[in-house]
Amino acid sequence: MYLAQYPRRQYTEGYTPIEKLERLTAAVGGANIYIKRDDLLGLTGGGNKTRKLEFLVADALRQGADTLITCGGIQSNHCRLTLAAAVKEGLKCRLIVSEITPGSYHIGAGGNVFLYHLLGAEDIKVIPWGSDIIAEMEQTAAKAIEEGCKPYIIPMGGSNALGALGYVACAEEIMQQAFFMGMPIDHIVVACGSAGTYSGLLFGLRGNNCHIPVSGISVLNSQEVLQNRIIDIFTEIADYLNSNVQIPSEAVTCFDEYLGDGYTIPTAAMIEAVKLVARTEGILLDPTYTGKAMAGLIDLIKKGYFKKDANVLFLHTGGSPGLYANMSLFL
Ligand SMILES: Cc1ncc(COP(=O)(O)O)c(C=O)c1O
Repeated sequence: MYLAQYPRRQYTEGYTPIEKLERLTAAVGGANIYIKRDDLLGLTGGGNKTRKLEFLVADALRQGADTLITCGGIQSNHCRLTLAAAVKEGLKCRLIVSEITPGSYHIGAGGNVFLYHLLGAEDIKVIPWGSDIIAEMEQTAAKAIEEGCKPYIIPMGGSNALGALGYVACAEEIMQQAFFMGMPIDHIVVACGSAGTYSGLLFGLRGNNCHIPVSGISVLNSQEVLQNRIIDIFTEIADYLNSNVQIPSEAVTCFDEYLGDGYTIPTAAMIEAVKLVARTEGILLDPTYTGKAMAGLIDLIKKGYFKKDANVLFLHTGGSPGLYANMSLFL
């Protein structure tokens, strides 16, 4: 796909590495585990949102915006990275964060909350979980306009067609790297929240006639809700690119059994997976996304879902600042 025709800011120099996790592979005792280090992407602390923001922020600048508005949970990697992109571009940034547990947002909450303050968010509005967050962003934008600003709203997780182009590009990067490494990838595993990462990735693979299966590990929604969301985003991407690539619903594979009691609620398997990857590979995962996704990958290997000699690529989507808001889980 010829993505160079779409405006893009560049926040990372070159490709993120693909590394073989020899010690983790030995510890789990199954398929060969590789990792794509998107935790090393540019902007503050890296992570998957950096790729989406390259396209979203370019669009904001093209429209003459001077203020980015977005939303997320309290420990939102997406809010942190949107704010970091705003700082880098000399824009202002207003955040709306929703609290699952009342009172849990406070300056001492650590992790991403600390970074919102360090990076100098212009405004942070805290709302209860389940409020109409889209309406809140629209109200914030209306207020910014009244104040003479030019706001640009970035949707939750940066997961619209434009943001997902970041992962269409990532799919092409992975195919190139596999070619140069001379290593066929048999399977990709990724955490799924707002689903833009999964959707962009699968679209990029299929659009290049590459049929590597992608397993999405849900950290937010039921399998059914996630699957429908992915199909909606595919349609949006195809419309945006004016492409006739079609993704059959059988190509979408997601698992919701690693979610536990819900979004951000820790599971024992997540804690074990975060510790195991830290202690075998020195790589930091996070409690909300990549820890649960890795717990899923390990369980799927143990269940024999992947062949013993398969090459499985885990997409590390970042999030490690969240560890510092949840330290007691890992002590
Ligand atoms: C670290 C991390 N991994 C994975 C995801 C999920 O990505 P998506 O929302 O595109 O499904 C997020 C989203 O916030 C994230 O912060």
